Amino acid sequence: MSSLAPSRLSGRTALVTGSSRGVGQLVAEALARQGARVFVHGRTETACAATLARVVAASAGRADPVVVAANLAVPAEVEALADRVEALGGVDILYNNAAIMHPWRERIENHTQADWESSFQVNVFALVRLCARFVPAMRKRGWGRVVNVTSGIDKTPQLAGYGASKWAVDKFTDDLAAELKDTGVIVSRLDPGWLRTDMGGKQAPNDPETVLPGALVPVLLADDAPGGQFFRAQELRGANV
Ligand SMILES: NC(=O)c1ccc[n+]([C@@H]2O[C@H](COP(=O)([O-])OP(=O)(O)OC[C@H]3O[C@@H](n4cnc5c(N)ncnc54)[C@H](OP(=O)(O)O)[C@@H]3O)[C@@H](O)[C@H]2O)c1
Repeated sequence: MSSLAPSRLSGRTALVTGSSRGVGQLVAEALARQGARVFVHGRTETACAATLARVVAASAGRADPVVVAANLAVPAEVEALADRVEALGGVDILYNNAAIMHPWRERIENHTQADWESSFQVNVFALVRLCARFVPAMRKRGWGRVVNVTSGIDKTPQLAGYGASKWAVDKFTDDLAAELKDTGVIVSRLDPGWLRTDMGGKQAPNDPETVLPGALVPVLLADDAPGGQFFRAQELRGANV
């Protein structure tokens, strides 16, 4: 038993997709520090080992984290991921963070069908399916938080497939928020800002750690907060969560 006082997410369970590294790893650790039981996710269990160790330390014995591996590029693996998490008790918090970015394409003629298909499968279709699988139980319980990670990417035609996938995430989040009005399930968007992760690259202006505390704000919203809000982690660096 931990001697730590129960914190704001005690008794809550969270799935953070793409938490083997980068933003997801920091979010998983921060949720564990707030008392949540965390499902750590990546494509392989091996990839999740470092996050698991950090989450175990952050949990301080209050909740047992679990690793769940699935390649979100494969629709059957998305369903199997949801099956496994449901079998282990389901989630109150769905943090849809995993995403891929296709290679830089200088001109439109360089874009490939695969760029667009893979961007939409991982970044949009998997995210929609995970909402479809987990939101009904949240709704039944009258409490849930869904955070869909988006991007501030703009006027970057070289990454148009990625940019369009995030636009689709924004649109879907708006629509889902309308459906979930007054249900206790609050869905939000979070733009982490341009960060020095594997995806953001070394030239990014911000430390990955600057995603916190802002990334927790959409999870810790009051129960009467509106859905569909757009949070920008870099504008929330001083947030008191
Ligand atoms: N970094 C930035 O500057 C930036 C800016 C704006 C928005 N974002 C958004 O922030 C989120 C996190 O980005 P990040 O920078 O932390 O990315 P990252 O460092 O590249 O990490 C990506 C995460 O997603 C997982 N992932 C990738 N492809 C997957 C697949 N097919 N199936 C399952 N999991 C997969 C990875 O798991 P594995 O380890 O198993 O590969 C990893 O955990 C993304 O939604 C991204 O679009 C990032």
